[in-house]
This record gives sequence, C-alpha cells and structure tokens, in this order.
Amino acid sequence: MSHELYNLPLYYDIAFTWDLNPELDFFDRLYESYVPFDVQRILEPACGTGRFLRAFPTRGYAITGYDRSPEMLAFASARIAEAGIGEMAEAVPGEMASAKYDCEFDMALNSINSLGYLLTDEEIILHFKLTGEALRPGGIYVVHIACALDCEPDPEGDTWTMKRDGISVTTTWGVEREDRETRLSHQLCRMEIDDHGRSVTLVEPHVTRLWFYEEFRDLVARSGTLELKAVYSEKFDEIPLDSQITGEMGNLYYVLKAVRYSDECRSENSAPGR
Ligand SMILES: C[S@@+](CC[C@H](N)C(=O)[O-])C[C@H]1O[C@@H](n2cnc3c(N)ncnc32)[C@H](O)[C@@H]1O
Repeated sequence: MSHELYNLPLYYDIAFTWDLNPELDFFDRLYESYVPFDVQRILEPACGTGRFLRAFPTRGYAITGYDRSPEMLAFASARIAEAGIGEMAEAVPGEMASAKYDCEFDMALNSINSLGYLLTDEEIILHFKLTGEALRPGGIYVVHIACALDCEPDPEGDTWTMKRDGISVTTTWGVEREDRETRLSHQLCRMEIDDHGRSVTLVEPHVTRLWFYEEFRDLVARSGTLELKAVYSEKFDEIPLDSQITGEMGNLYYVLKAVRYSDECRSENSAPGR
C-alpha cells in the first residue's frame, strides 16, 4: 500500500528530523559490544528521506539506504548531493522483502517501526534472511520497533510540532486499534502543515504489523541468518531477553546478529566508501 505521507518528503523530513547524536553514540557502543571487526559500511532498509544517510558519514561511516518510495529517494539523493557526501552515502530503490546484497555491510539499521510495513510472516522472514545475507557474519542488524500493548491503545496518540524555513508541521500519530487475530496495528497519522501561510492537512491510516515479542524472536530465528542477541530501551538501557516485553515499553532496539558462517561472501562489492 502506498502512503501519501511518503509522497511528501519535505514535510516528513521536517516532522521526523531531530538530533540523532544520542542514537549514533548508542550504535557506536553496540559495535564495540557485538561486532568483532571495525564497522565501516552500513545498510539502511526503508531509509526514507535519509536522516541517517546524512548523519552516519559525519562519523566516517559509509551508508547505503534503500526505499520503495521514489519521492523519498529523490529527496534523500538531493540532500546527499547538497551535503557533498556522495562518496559516503547513496539512496537506491529497494523493497524490504526482496532487496538483495551479499556480505557487503557490517551493520544494518531499520528505524522507527519501518519494519512494520511488512505484514506477513513470509515477507518478514524473507527480509530477515536477505538482510542477514547482506551482512558480514558477525555484523548486526538493529531493528527499532514497538510491541503490542497490554492495555487498550490511546487513539489520541502523540502530538509534536517541528518548524523549518517558514514551514510548520504538527503531527499526531496514534494507534486506533490493535487486532490480535490478524496481527495488524491500525494507526492514524494526522499532519497539519503551514507552508508559508498555505495550509495543508493530511489524515491517513497506516496499517502495520502487530508485534509480539515471542513471535518476533521466532521470525528472526526462522530466517536462518540472524539471531536475537539483545534488546535495549528507548533510553538505551539493556533489557534482559527473558523479560515480558509489551508496547507500554515504547520503541525498543533489537540487536540481531548475522550468524551465517559461509564461504560464499564475495570479496569485491559495490557499497559506497570502497
Ligand atoms: C516511517 S518512514 C522511516 C524512514 C526512515 N527509516 C527514518 O528513520 O526516517 C518509513 C519508510 O518506509 C518505506 N517503506 C515502507 N514499506 C517499504 C517496503 N516494503 N520496502 C521499502 N521501503 C518501504 C516508506 O517509503 C518510508 O520511507
């Protein structure tokens, strides 16, 4: 399903751009703890407008992002060119259920619930398998998602306003309903945009996967290429793997390790920064 929000990259980028340094510091700590080699090349499935494609090169990492929205990709590519970081970052077309790379990356990142746009077990397992194969054995895939709530969702959701260059975007994102039978989360995004005095309103449903921790673990294990190693809170504190994890804990970071020990890794590759 295509979403109007992802046809409006400038407004998305204003609404969802914040200081990424705390997250980048956290990822640096994860590399030290979990990756047995120097992390140099990063893959970002569903990269959107390229918030991370612009941020990682400032710390010396090369990054490839892919996304299925041509509008998001065009915006990301233009920003990369403006920043003069084309040697270190690229935004390319790709679908999470089919994008294929071979051992080209040291780390992969899937941010703010983007993985949830894969709805079926089959698509999710395939995505995990392919992403595991895209990583060097020992590399990690960091997935940022929220699980199903224990209580009834609050349809009011969260509201925040961001401003840039005369444009103000007020976003409200709420979960209207969680359907445990179909494993779908029915969410509503509302954006009130003031673009130099012109008002634009976007109201759009987003249906995403409803995650249950044990099922998520099982889907990871069934990929055959990734293994759950650790879970971290929004504040970057480690949560024991045997905890009861629910949506009330917010968007958590799941650290998945590439466990494919094969001799099939290509020696040459096309990732940027090479
Ligand atoms: C919430 S945005 C997140 C973008 C980016 N990860 C970030 O942190 O800003 C979700 C992105 O997922 C992309 N997307 C959704 N389903 C996808 C799929 N099946 N394959 C590739 N990209 C997808 C959308 O086009 C959109 O850019």
